[in-house]
Amino acid sequence: MSLKIIILAAGKGTRMKSEIPKVLHEVAGSPMLGRVITACRGAGASRIVGVVSGEVERLSGALGKADDLHWALQEEQLGTGHATLCAKEALQAKGSDKVLIINGDMPRLRAETLKAFIEAWEASKAPAALLSTEVPDPSGYGRILRSAEGKFTGVVEDRDADQSQRKIAEINVGIYGATTGLLYGALDRAGNDNDQGEYYLPDAFKILLADGVEVEAIPMDPPAEFEGVNTRIQLAEASAYVYGRKAAEVMLSGVTLVDPTSVYIEDSVVIGQDTILEPGVLLKGSTKIEEGCRVGAYSVLTDSELAAGVEVKSHCVLEKAKVGKKATVGPFARLREGTDLGEKSKVGNFVETKKAKLGEGAKASHLSYLGDCEIGGGSNIGAGTITCNYDGFAKHFTDIGEDVFVGSNSTLVAPVALGKGSFVAAGSTVTRSSKPDDLVLGRARQTIKAGYAERLRSRMNSKNSDSSESEK
Ligand code: UD1
Ligand code: CA
Repeated sequence: MSLKIIILAAGKGTRMKSEIPKVLHEVAGSPMLGRVITACRGAGASRIVGVVSGEVERLSGALGKADDLHWALQEEQLGTGHATLCAKEALQAKGSDKVLIINGDMPRLRAETLKAFIEAWEASKAPAALLSTEVPDPSGYGRILRSAEGKFTGVVEDRDADQSQRKIAEINVGIYGATTGLLYGALDRAGNDNDQGEYYLPDAFKILLADGVEVEAIPMDPPAEFEGVNTRIQLAEASAYVYGRKAAEVMLSGVTLVDPTSVYIEDSVVIGQDTILEPGVLLKGSTKIEEGCRVGAYSVLTDSELAAGVEVKSHCVLEKAKVGKKATVGPFARLREGTDLGEKSKVGNFVETKKAKLGEGAKASHLSYLGDCEIGGGSNIGAGTITCNYDGFAKHFTDIGEDVFVGSNSTLVAPVALGKGSFVAAGSTVTRSSKPDDLVLGRARQTIKAGYAERLRSRMNSKNSDSSESEK
């Protein structure tokens, strides 16, 4: 079955008090509309049409262009029914095609829930259906009306409802399914004779019922998943909900979160069993952590990979970095894009790496900048070593072989290579490449004048007493 989905997202979102369109505000690390699109894709959508208001450029810029994603413009916000009509052309559907319509302000929605709704709808055999749920406080929502036998008979909006209808706890969540022929046939006939003077999408379903078409209201749980966002308070609540759900999911799959309320794991992140995450950890984007790792307090990992048994100590920042098995990182290390650390390697405190490949067991334990370089297995990079990769015009490469010893506070001026087993004396400025097992000394020769310190002191002292005499 080819599944087409309309996402209604043209609403103004005035209560966000923002220059940014409401659906671009982020929940748990990604724009609300992006989250709904991801859920739609996960449910198997072949074509998605977002109905938006004049912000198409900005939205497609923020959400990325994709073959399955199309935009329809609703210039004036005349209601959800009108918005659905605006999507008709971009939908490119045959009358018999099934379509889902989803309110765009539901960032908690999961693909699994959409799939379950589609299954229940198909099982019901009804040509049209909508998703309902029961909430403790239904105020503001459209209420589901049912006959004495429990048959769905329509939706009444909060502002159009009477006292007894307002007591109904079953609400319309804003997820609908129908064949396009039926949907648009009914929408063409929907009016705007209501409190807001808007064209209501739920009215189409009432029209279908009047036509004798079977329409099901399918109740689903949990209600919290369908909560929308209108204010920044609700935005924060939605993030907390989504992060909380992910935290529970990873804990149930065998990951220890020392304090789940302070750990933030984006939905796209994958974590292996027996990994421990200390408080304050942020895991973002396509980050993947294998089994038995430990990530220390307040570390932030973005689009990075940790192989099994890696320890990232506290306060590290990793971005597009790869860390090999049983390597250790930090505390206070910054691994930037293109860092690739070998098995059992070590990057210690106050080390910054960028496009740096370290071989097995290589170590840079303290205070270094390693950029645009390869460091062979077993090499030891002393404290304060700097790869001078940039000459103000271009970046250059530093190639360090295996088992090289680079003494502390060395400056490696790229392009430069150190052959396998070379030894660089501490404090060297290295501008020429070495061959295997060379000793590299790149510093001024030290001189010692025996006993001169004492002579220097007495000279200084006599000078000082002369000048204090003359001041009198
Ligand atoms: C709607 C439903 C209500 C349901 C509730 C669930 C209608 C008439 N009512 O009410 O039964 O309980 O959602 O949250 O549909 N939008 C447009 N263009 C418009 C108007 C709205 O694209 O002209 C979009 C909004 O951006 C939003 C969605 O449609 O994503 C829902 O609109 P909203 O105004 O929030 O509808 P509710 O009053 O909440
Ligand atoms: Ca709403």
